[in-house]
Amino acid sequence: MTKQSTKRIGILTGGGDCPGLNAVIRAVVRRALLLDYEVVGIKNGWQGLVKGTTEPLTLLSVSGILPRGGTILGTSRTNPMKNEEDKKKVLTNIKKLGIDWLIAVGGEDTLGVARQLSELGVKVVGVPKTIDNDVEGTDQTFGFDTAVSIVTEAIDRLHTTAESHQRVMVVEVMGRHTGWIAVVSGLAGGADCILIPEEPMTIQQICQVLEKRHARGRLFSIVVVAEGFKLAGAEELVTKDQSRDQFGHVHLGGIGELIAQQIEKYTGFETRVTVLGHIQRGGSPTSFDRVLGTRYGVKAVELLHEGKFGTLVALRGNKITAVPLSKTMRKLKRVDPELIRTAEMFYG
Ligand code: F6P
Repeated sequence: MTKQSTKRIGILTGGGDCPGLNAVIRAVVRRALLLDYEVVGIKNGWQGLVKGTTEPLTLLSVSGILPRGGTILGTSRTNPMKNEEDKKKVLTNIKKLGIDWLIAVGGEDTLGVARQLSELGVKVVGVPKTIDNDVEGTDQTFGFDTAVSIVTEAIDRLHTTAESHQRVMVVEVMGRHTGWIAVVSGLAGGADCILIPEEPMTIQQICQVLEKRHARGRLFSIVVVAEGFKLAGAEELVTKDQSRDQFGHVHLGGIGELIAQQIEKYTGFETRVTVLGHIQRGGSPTSFDRVLGTRYGVKAVELLHEGKFGTLVALRGNKITAVPLSKTMRKLKRVDPELIRTAEMFYG
């Protein structure tokens, strides 16, 4: 690749953190320096562009961060498009800070803002991140593989105690709109029933699955439930409280407890619930996520270098490619029905 005059690349990480963010940041800095570009880290997602808070990113500042969870830049769920004033601040600060090109690493919300800024003329490339794996346009987001391996290990551990006590173990996992974590870790861990937002079930259907299993002499069961699951016919999601973040998302939590109580009530089987929560997002990324994050970071810089602005880096098969930001986030990437059918074959 030919070198160009020095440009300044700004990078931010927005939304819920996830393992692999530091791998992306490191790869962006390393690839940019090879092309003689400068990189500035924007603090705490879009909030950093509203407030103008940045830090220079050098070889030294990204040294040793590859295996570290979280993000050295910090993150937030700030939505700068919520009001005109913040939107103006973002556009002014991009100029003031001398940022020529922007890399936004995030999920549907962060990338949605990136798309809107791109429409306003900002030269931006997106990198798809979320443990939920629900970003349209890419086969996989980084962070998902790590979350799945954490949940699979938890299911394995719950199996032994479930069997010893002959109990039903309900495991509540993340997955606000889609059940990717629940289905893939449920398959990997041999779950007996998996409850996801894509496929509402009645409590009677769930209990039938467990009773069938008990009838064949297996006196313990593992039920994996995604936090965004709704019982068939239920109007509302189960939430912790009434609060909403700046993108309008409710604070989910509690569906595991509700399902566990009802299973015990209708089957009489002793039931316990485990909520894995933010453990799924914390700690060191798997080797898969380190490599995916690294490939995404390298590609993001190369897209900027080639002038391919307004794009999202994406994994298609085993190749890293790019899709227009305008063609993503129109809908969420739901769990492949074929994968759901496969999981269902192991129920009961
Ligand atoms: O980033 C996605 C996610 O992990 C969802 O699965 C979950 O609903 C949400 O973030 C939790 O957000 P918070 O960090 O604000 O509790």
